[in-house]
Amino acid sequence: MPTVKKELVLGAFEVMAPTFLANSWRHPLARPEEFARLSFWQDLARELDAGGFDFLFFAEHLAYPMDEGDRVPEVVVKEAVQFPVHDALLAISGLAAVTERLGFFVTASTTAGQPYLNARSFGTVDHLTAGRIGWNIVTSDMQTALVRLLGHDTVTAHDKRYAKADEFVQLCLQQWEGGWGEDAQPMDKQSGVFNDPEKVHWIDHDGEFYSLHGYFPIAPSPQRTPTLFQAGASPRGKDFAAKYAECIFTQERDITKTAALVKDLRARAEAQGRPGDSIKIINGMSAIVGETHQEAVALRRELLDAPSREAMASLFMGWSGVNLMNFDPETTLADVRTEIGQSLLSQYQDGRTVGEVIDGLRETMGGFKVTGTAQEVADELEHIAEETGIDGYLVEHSFGGIESYRDFIHQVMPKMREKGILPQTPRRGSLREMLTGAETSRLARDHPGAAFRHEHLAAGTGAA
Ligand SMILES: Cc1cc2nc3c(=O)[nH]c(=O)nc-3n(C[C@H](O)[C@H](O)[C@H](O)COP(=O)(O)O)c2cc1C
Repeated sequence: MPTVKKELVLGAFEVMAPTFLANSWRHPLARPEEFARLSFWQDLARELDAGGFDFLFFAEHLAYPMDEGDRVPEVVVKEAVQFPVHDALLAISGLAAVTERLGFFVTASTTAGQPYLNARSFGTVDHLTAGRIGWNIVTSDMQTALVRLLGHDTVTAHDKRYAKADEFVQLCLQQWEGGWGEDAQPMDKQSGVFNDPEKVHWIDHDGEFYSLHGYFPIAPSPQRTPTLFQAGASPRGKDFAAKYAECIFTQERDITKTAALVKDLRARAEAQGRPGDSIKIINGMSAIVGETHQEAVALRRELLDAPSREAMASLFMGWSGVNLMNFDPETTLADVRTEIGQSLLSQYQDGRTVGEVIDGLRETMGGFKVTGTAQEVADELEHIAEETGIDGYLVEHSFGGIESYRDFIHQVMPKMREKGILPQTPRRGSLREMLTGAETSRLARDHPGAAFRHEHLAAGTGAA
């Protein structure tokens, strides 16, 4: 009997900026001048929708690389190292309007944001997309510049940011799941009852970081809680993900390390009382497809050679908090500590010298790099998924916009379907139903957010 293969999930990884990794905006196929226009993203969303992608994912950068001396490297501004970078959530309803089934993830920060305003924005967009929105929860990179922009005194320490994130997410869940009971809006013209007062619930929260007293004035939306994604893989980050995430974004590029991380994340979910495989682990991946293997390798080289060493070191500084340019190139990063991106830094604490790290950044930042003919790429994607246990890929754009995805959609995805590692017909439904296979658009009963539902609270089985 043929074995049933795991059907993978596919997302497109974007940031609302002219470039993702530095300098891809200079490629002849890139259309960097269009990045701020809605029509550019609508064209992309339409192609992803028709091509069978499950979702379009936007990373977020609220600031830019800056060192401890408040110096922004000139290359950041000059070469557009994720500068400028815009607010993707504002574009989502415009993208939902021109697509039928594509889901959308938007990254939003628990360090910079505010739980009521965050719940309000995502609740509104969940209505406007008919349940196709998800929240990628981050505690934020680019912290040094961010605190200056927000008027905060100092960077909040790494683990404290996660403690804050915990309370932030709890409070959002309480609003989405506990603010309104079931069937709370009769909208009965005859009796004049629009909202049933018995089913609109007052929330009182006084926590360590936030306080909130009142009703949640956003009508209950199709998913209520947007589908929850998380990115951040330090030990503290992994525990946080195991507790709340329905999907986790990992950025590994080594099969053995990825397999270990997947095992670890599933074990941590089980320790939290959630089935390990209920969390979808989705790893970054850049695919370059050529007519021949040699052509693909040449294209990959072109892409890797584009950014300067300084630009890549600046990006690394923004993401990790460590300015590699300040180190003696002969030393290693073994004893370096950071309060910003611990999981990224730890990937480079393996004995390589700082000089080697800088030289290799172009090849090592991001997820798996898969290069070859369409058949070779499809074969490798199958192999990586089987060996690591991941559930899908976040496909990184290569040189900007639609062209990056066309070869993948038209050449690689049909081969993945032939292999049985993609659904024969694209998934449909709310984002949660598409990604988790849930039968409803609502959060699973074993998720901590479900404990805020009023029926649980009334039965004494809800959250404290
Ligand atoms: C794969 C991955 C993707 C991330 N994406 C973002 C992002 O889009 N925006 C952001 O502000 N921070 C992002 N971060 C940073 C995390 O939110 C977090 O602040 C930082 O990595 C520290 O957590 P960690 O040490 O657990 O990784 C990302 C981190 C990882 C590992």
